[in-house]
Amino acid sequence: MSFVTSPALDETGYVALDRDDRAIDAAEWQELEYIGWRSSGITRFAPLTSYAGDVDCNGFWNHTPPRTDKDGVWIEPQVERAPTIVARAQEPGANIGRCRVIELQPNTYADAIYNLHQDDNNRLNEDGTGWVVRGMLNLTDDPDSLMILREDRFDPATEVRLPLPAGSRVIVDTQRFWHAVWHRGTAPRYSLITSWTSGPELDAYIAAGHGDPNAQSVALDQQLVDDAQVELHRRIEERRRAFEAAGITMEPPASLYG
Ligand SMILES: [Fe+2]
Repeated sequence: MSFVTSPALDETGYVALDRDDRAIDAAEWQELEYIGWRSSGITRFAPLTSYAGDVDCNGFWNHTPPRTDKDGVWIEPQVERAPTIVARAQEPGANIGRCRVIELQPNTYADAIYNLHQDDNNRLNEDGTGWVVRGMLNLTDDPDSLMILREDRFDPATEVRLPLPAGSRVIVDTQRFWHAVWHRGTAPRYSLITSWTSGPELDAYIAAGHGDPNAQSVALDQQLVDDAQVELHRRIEERRRAFEAAGITMEPPASLYG
């Protein structure tokens, strides 16, 4: 037995879909209830689903009884505030686990590289069932901002950078890829993030959106990339020393965005 995966994701682990040009009223994401989460600092989330329908960002496996990132329960007050956003998450018809809007403040490329993390979408997922991947729909128009994916956390040669204009859609195996966003803006970026279960429904949605596993990656100045690598290692070392001084063994990289 093995997990059911999407053939469209087999090639590179991600697909970029056609831009969704249907407008969504900004009030939908502006009026949601946001909460801070874990070590993600100033980044906030507005959960649309949760383990039990409360405003809660915790992984479903951290509840009793634990379950994998499937069968999220809609949070009624949030759904009422953002019906169109919810409809976008439901559009593929695939099972939905966690579903939330992220609010990300402007940051630097080096910040994004330091924030690279893998998700934990398939903890407790059962062999023979659908592999959980993440869909990202950019709500705000951030054409200069980039979704950064790395196969190898420390190797910029494995990096793919996808621009994030309004309506841009990316589906990523975020447990495989190290990922983060470099938000080059002045106002916060808002994006819908949905855990979808792979299967025929998701395959059909990817096909209808002309999912491209080789979407054009944006080129960056090599010096910027090199400098960020140095900064990445400096920050990791700085954190290691701080932990050491506090008598704490270095933890694995935190999943900043769950
Ligand atoms: Fe993530």
